[in-house]
Amino acid sequence: MENKIVVGNIKMNMRFSEIPNYINCFKNINSKNIIICPSYIYIPYFLNYNFNVGSQNVCSLEDKGYTGEVSAKQLSSIGVKYSIVGHSERRIKLNESSIEINKKIKCCIDSNIKVILCIGETKEQFNMLKKDIVLKRQIKDALYDIEDISNIMIAYEPIWAIGTKEIPNLNELENTVNYIKTTIYNMYKKDIKVLYGGSVNEDNIDELNTINNLDGYLIGSASVNPNRFLGLINRISKIL
Ligand code: PGA
Repeated sequence: MENKIVVGNIKMNMRFSEIPNYINCFKNINSKNIIICPSYIYIPYFLNYNFNVGSQNVCSLEDKGYTGEVSAKQLSSIGVKYSIVGHSERRIKLNESSIEINKKIKCCIDSNIKVILCIGETKEQFNMLKKDIVLKRQIKDALYDIEDISNIMIAYEPIWAIGTKEIPNLNELENTVNYIKTTIYNMYKKDIKVLYGGSVNEDNIDELNTINNLDGYLIGSASVNPNRFLGLINRISKIL
């Protein structure tokens, strides 16, 4: 349990005035397996503690002429060690394509940023028993032409479980995690870490913790309040 990875995806929830309290709650955390992902503009305030910091996104290009974007090289230069790539909110609401996701991963690898690659099916795909096909397609597209996966982990986030208080059936989730790991093993002959994301909260964390093959969690709304997030972390990895 101690080695479980916990990623906090704060999304656009934080305001500037909330940063001191957040930092105050986390400043004594001594675990590089805790990865906090604030918005780009707040990242500098979270650096130089004994937890890790990730970005919620990264530009798919390294040229300098893309106003408003932030490149992997820039993130790396400030000390960011992780980036979430391919979150379903970006895939769906911002039309992020699998080609872009593949480019983003390559940019991260080139800049030594570890990738938290999000994959997941819609409810409709789930109901039509297409989950496994969809996940395999997302994996193959995202990793196209990528030889080294040592800096990549996968976050399995069923789209229907994000922000809904619904989570998959535990047996099904365990099978899906195995399926993702086997898919990667067949492609690379290497093991990959798989996290689960989607409505992880105080009510379901104990049952989720019983899933043996899970390497950690990607937590959205329950990471917005630092005390709540700390309570959850403590029930995942007993580091406090
Ligand atoms: P949630 O979000 O925990 O609020 O469901 C997870 C995510 O979007 O990564």
